[in-house]
Amino acid sequence: MKESPAKRATELRKQLEHHEYRYYVLDAPEISDAEYDVLIRELKALEEAHPELRTPDSPTQRVGGQPREGFVKVAHSSPMLSLDNALNEQELREFDTRVQTLLKGEPYEYVAELKLDGLSMAAQYESRQLHQAITRGDGRVGEDVTNNARTIRSLPLRLRGNAISNAFEVRGEVVMQRSSFERLNEEQEKEGLKRFANPRNAAAGALRALDPGITAARRLDYFAYFLLENGKPMLPSHWQSLERLAEAGFKVNNHRRKCKDLDELLQFIRDTESRRDALPYETDGVVAKIDSIAQQERLGWTSKAPRWAIAFKYPARQAATVLENIEVQVGRTGALTPVAHLKPVTVGGVTVSRATLHNEDEIVRLAVEIGDTVLVERSGDVIPKIVRVVEQGKDRRPFQIPKHCPICKGHIVREEGEAASRCVNASCPARLRETLLHFSARGVMDIDGLGDALVDQLLARGLVHSVADLYHLTVPQLLELERMGEKSASKVIKNIEKSRSQPLPRVLNGLGIPFVGERTAQLLAGHFGDLDRIANASVETLQEVDEVGPKVAESIKQFFGEVRNRDLVEKLRRAGLQFAGEKQPKKKGGPLAGLTFVVTGTLPTLKREEAKARIEEAGGKVAGSVSSKTSYLLAGEEAGSKLEKARELNVPILDEPGLLALLDSRSTT
Ligand code: IVH
Repeated sequence: MKESPAKRATELRKQLEHHEYRYYVLDAPEISDAEYDVLIRELKALEEAHPELRTPDSPTQRVGGQPREGFVKVAHSSPMLSLDNALNEQELREFDTRVQTLLKGEPYEYVAELKLDGLSMAAQYESRQLHQAITRGDGRVGEDVTNNARTIRSLPLRLRGNAISNAFEVRGEVVMQRSSFERLNEEQEKEGLKRFANPRNAAAGALRALDPGITAARRLDYFAYFLLENGKPMLPSHWQSLERLAEAGFKVNNHRRKCKDLDELLQFIRDTESRRDALPYETDGVVAKIDSIAQQERLGWTSKAPRWAIAFKYPARQAATVLENIEVQVGRTGALTPVAHLKPVTVGGVTVSRATLHNEDEIVRLAVEIGDTVLVERSGDVIPKIVRVVEQGKDRRPFQIPKHCPICKGHIVREEGEAASRCVNASCPARLRETLLHFSARGVMDIDGLGDALVDQLLARGLVHSVADLYHLTVPQLLELERMGEKSASKVIKNIEKSRSQPLPRVLNGLGIPFVGERTAQLLAGHFGDLDRIANASVETLQEVDEVGPKVAESIKQFFGEVRNRDLVEKLRRAGLQFAGEKQPKKKGGPLAGLTFVVTGTLPTLKREEAKARIEEAGGKVAGSVSSKTSYLLAGEEAGSKLEKARELNVPILDEPGLLALLDSRSTT
């Protein structure tokens, strides 16, 4: 007999929860991502077919939720205060002496933990489920970020086992791992947006994003460190709380130790400091907490911080040295990154002779010139950075971005509002390696086997000078290369051949035009239907495409304006790539043709997506923000800033019945 859907859903949820816990909390997965996908897909399908089976704590509910206009303020169960700092051993000793005095010589123990560089968040659990998540805010009142917090995979939506039975609250730290941070900043740069200064800021931005989809994409992590009931510690010792939290399925940082005196605490600090760089997230010190809750209560609080805990901050790893030169490096999209050449200096035990300056704005912000003495900092990131100018050099000279690419002599341009100057030649050798890798990547031209190692060899032997040259490679040529057998050589050539039939959007994405990724490429291909039309379109015509604004249009124009890129396009044409795609017929006419709508707030019966679909079916356009060009704002309950903006601009405001009436009236006329 077939299992009932309800039973299967419960079973799937149980399995998924188990695997999420293994993966996100224990970092020890038992199944592959693909196997996980199969399970989650089955559950999604089940829940779609039987919506009544969907539960708020289902693993399918991690991503999603509607974007909101703002956050609701919520009072904390007890204040979320901050910690006093000790900046050196002496200050830590003073803290310890104070504890001794206040506890009148009674023995006590510390629990030492890492001070994670993130932001604190409280999460309330009721009936074993995540009920509400609140940011620290001003310590007394925070913001309800429940929908965003649900996307944090290491925060359980439902408890494991029977470790905790009553309603409770956890407090802990939301952090962004370095790898996620770096990926995010790469994406920011690609989009011409500002880089985040550090993972902490990036995590704060992600947690407070109005769209939970953004929070989900930025992959936050949560480490729990307090277990409270009615605003007070639930168990008699802090160590016990940490263990209980781990049992209940929370991620509790493993770098923790019970220390019976100051010496042990100092040892823990030394041990963790030396391992700091190897951790996947940033830490800026160690937090020491008195273990016994009874003793914590006796020690009490000042108005700002507990007297039973202290944050020891690692000394900043900085040193002063001379900025000898600034060189530019060229990345895949042609972006130029200024790199500082420093007089070698030891910073926290490591010799540093290079530092990143990110982009020209950074140089302006620092007001730094070649010859200045600068302060260099090595934080968790591997690449050190310049913090400020310590002393201006006697013979200082300003840095100027070159007019021509230092590698290929191609044109350098910097568009308004963009952080970086770029070399616009797609075949620039400096860009070539990255361009080739992007071109062959999965989801782009899908050339399996053309990875780092092969690309490097092709470049070293001068076998390719642009992506078009890939299509002239032969098996005998590849056989000359290291670690290339007959079988793999013919496989690669076959895969290159196969890629000739990739559809237009992929070809367009593969060209590596700044700001033209998968989605924009699809929209462009759908609108123009042909690569030549895109290449010849004016900036104005390009902007007729959905989601293409002046910045993207300008970048496309720039790209096809460069002779070398035109050449490349011709070579790809000769190689037989797909330049024609399917043009998507634009809905002409329709009762709402020519009208632009913005949708906001919660509508009484239609879901936002449904409302959008109705508008688009009727030929209307749906935009993300209100401007003077908006024809109507469709507003539901809890509409916020968009409603205000619409009123300001005198944009007519519709409610749901209004929209339906408009659809009706227009379709009969
Ligand atoms: S205990 C009253 N433990 O540091 C107790 N805080 O300077 C305060 N933090 O706001 C929190 N790691 O955002 C505690 N293991 C840890 C921590 C930690 C990082 C942050 C937290 C807090 C700030 C206090």
